[in-house]
Amino acid sequence: MTDQPTKKAFIKSYGCQMNVYDAERMAAQLAADGYAPAETAEEADLVVLNTCHIREKAAEKVYSELGRLKNLRTEKRAGGKDLILAVAGCVAQAEGAEIVRRQPAVDVVVGPQAYHRLPAMVARAAQKRGTGRRTNGTAEVDTDFPEEDKFDHLAPDTQARRAPAAFLTVQEGCDKFCAFCVVPYTRGAEVSRPAARILSEARALVARGVREITLLGQNVNAWHGRPVEGMGAGLGGLIRELARIEGLARIRYTTSHPNDMDAGLIAAHAEVAELMPYLHLPVQAGSDRILKAMNRKHTAASYRALIGRIRATKPDLALSGDFIVGFPGESAEDFEETLGLVEDLGYAQAYSFKYSPRPGTPAADSLDQVPEVEKTARLTRLQSLLNAQQIAFNRSKLGTEMEVLIEKPGRRAGQMVGRSPWLQSVHLEAPAESLGTMARVVITGAGPNSLEARLIA
Ligand code: 5AD
Ligand code: SF4
Repeated sequence: MTDQPTKKAFIKSYGCQMNVYDAERMAAQLAADGYAPAETAEEADLVVLNTCHIREKAAEKVYSELGRLKNLRTEKRAGGKDLILAVAGCVAQAEGAEIVRRQPAVDVVVGPQAYHRLPAMVARAAQKRGTGRRTNGTAEVDTDFPEEDKFDHLAPDTQARRAPAAFLTVQEGCDKFCAFCVVPYTRGAEVSRPAARILSEARALVARGVREITLLGQNVNAWHGRPVEGMGAGLGGLIRELARIEGLARIRYTTSHPNDMDAGLIAAHAEVAELMPYLHLPVQAGSDRILKAMNRKHTAASYRALIGRIRATKPDLALSGDFIVGFPGESAEDFEETLGLVEDLGYAQAYSFKYSPRPGTPAADSLDQVPEVEKTARLTRLQSLLNAQQIAFNRSKLGTEMEVLIEKPGRRAGQMVGRSPWLQSVHLEAPAESLGTMARVVITGAGPNSLEARLIA
């Protein structure tokens, strides 16, 4: 009997944290199907591009990457090997079979709600290849939103030991239909996983060494999954339940919508010690005219009032946000209102983007598009304000003591990198064995993107 050489899969993930989580689930499933992880596309028998469609010419980038992979496959074939190409994620969902029309080398196209079917699709694609039946018209395409719960079909996490911080998807999809956003089309309608499933996944992660869990969802604070007995309502109730897991030191969640920030969740910030003092709460713009055109269903004043309430409950909370400049119809005055809101509220950290028309979304067809040079100028101004606020926030921690979770080795020998309660990276001298522990430190340095610290004995 000849030894079957191990097959290897290389998964390249773009975009948000949910894609990172999905890529891990795909890797676990493929591992159960005999695919070991590959470090590069060159050493792989299967390459999966887990794509993002949120901004810019994401689809174009995928096509150029596929062009390179097609060449790699040609080289491999010359050497008697083969390479299966799969496209997953949000571009797969948005483009579907169009991907195969434009790049016939693609064997598998699978959307974010169907990736539990990936191993079977890959096996069928490999079989077609083996029998020479693989022609352009026979690629495997699945962009369904199946009735069955994909989480029921996913292989369990098999990593013997886990990094100390992990993601856990609790909610997926979105029913809000902001006029700029492609997510309701690529990820589908809002679905919440049942609390019992989430709790058992969290317990399994903690048993493998995880100390910090970030709950993920496109609209995570709209979570309304089936509760377990005696549990409080909504995400606040779920967080309280998770906090009872022995060994789970920290809980975070992202991304939230202002309209789903209910009293129970706000109270949890004050009452649950494990819930970190950090909130990513995108507002997108500071002008009511633009917020209305964006279909955000809140005003600048209601957002300001909400932040006021949250800060009254949890004064040391770090605020993070997302902003879009140059949404269709945004005037110079509208933009000034965004700057004013940022000035007044103060952000510890934020993401800001130029508006990018997404095919199929309402705003993409507006005739009132803002010129690119204007978008660039506005983004530069907004980012310099946000950067200054981020630096000020980091400096405000100088000389203070805090607990950090040691997450990974640093670049230099003897150095480790930890995470502050406010999501800042913290560099410190610490033994390698400190990995995965909570360490008490004093902050000795503050840069734009990270802190430096010393261990306190
Ligand atoms: N153009 C620019 N930014 C966008 N975002 C979402 N869609 C677009 C778009 N079409 C930003 C929003 C969102 C974040 C994830 O990406 O700020 O909160
Ligand atoms: Fe990108 Fe949105 Fe899809 Fe995440 S959900 S990968 S951000 S398009």
